[in-house]
Amino acid sequence: MEEKTKYSHIPVMLEEVSDLLITDKSGIYVDATVGMGGHSLNMIKRLNKDARLVGIDWDPEMLDIAKNNLSDYLEQVKLISGNFADIDGILKKEGITLISGLLLDLGISSLHFDKASRGFSFNKEGPLDMRINPQNPITAYNIINSWPYEQIEHLIRICGEKFSRRITSAILDSRKRADIKTTTQLSKIIEDVIPFSERKRRASHPATKTFLALRVAVNYEFDNLTKVLQRSSQLLSAGGRIAVITFHSLEDRIVKETFKSMAVVGGWKIITKKPLIPSQSEVDSNPRARSAKLRVIEKLKEGL
Ligand SMILES: C[S@@+](CC[C@H](N)C(=O)[O-])C[C@H]1O[C@@H](n2cnc3c(N)ncnc32)[C@H](O)[C@@H]1O
Repeated sequence: MEEKTKYSHIPVMLEEVSDLLITDKSGIYVDATVGMGGHSLNMIKRLNKDARLVGIDWDPEMLDIAKNNLSDYLEQVKLISGNFADIDGILKKEGITLISGLLLDLGISSLHFDKASRGFSFNKEGPLDMRINPQNPITAYNIINSWPYEQIEHLIRICGEKFSRRITSAILDSRKRADIKTTTQLSKIIEDVIPFSERKRRASHPATKTFLALRVAVNYEFDNLTKVLQRSSQLLSAGGRIAVITFHSLEDRIVKETFKSMAVVGGWKIITKKPLIPSQSEVDSNPRARSAKLRVIEKLKEGL
């Protein structure tokens, strides 16, 4: 049996997030991707005793770990299982109508990558699962073994894989013989069709983009991100901020464009003209931080 305690997650740009997000030390903050609670812990330590923090995660396993890591602050912290796309409904149930800050540290936790049985990693043998919330109906297995060529090819292509046609043809060939069941099986199919010169040229594993595309589709990540940005904008009080950490260019583009249009419509000010990125020393000690970008926006007046 795998033990929860053997997994850890190093929070990215930890101090920068708290520095930029906290504008009212007695406010209500929402960490909508609480994960193991690293960012939440740093924030709650800096806040006054009358401040509150709501931590949301879609994966109940993460909430158990967060509860443990935030155990000294449970009087101020409320942990809730849910999809951040439903942020307005979740907060309404808690009687919260205005917040001082929202953090979205997107994607998945190190636990998800490291725990083979969750099926997120191409170099760890596991089932083709990739669901952040194990109750969700679709798995990567369903996509790989039943979606038509056009849909798989399109999905992989929009996530930046230029060999999408070769990869999809190989997947369809293979599944004709027998279902593709495991992460390493899929990874091998992909590796075999990426030309050697390209494999040598790429900084990342040949299966990286395909696995990212599957994860995004299984968890409808772009849809969730668009919804949370739309719905949370009404929840911020004047002077309140939204901070978003992204890990790939597609989600960063959604955040960048949404923030830009909020600022153009009026009532919002972009705090990070250019996104903040981790320092070299942070990347050296936590290579998973290397693609992170932090963007922050501030609400100037209420009622928008
Ligand atoms: C990068 S981790 C956050 C790590 C966290 N900041 C920490 O310090 O431990 C992202 C977390 O967001 C959660 N998550 C992803 N999509 C979500 C969604 N739509 N709603 C709520 N949580 C989500 C994942 O389960 C994961 O725990």
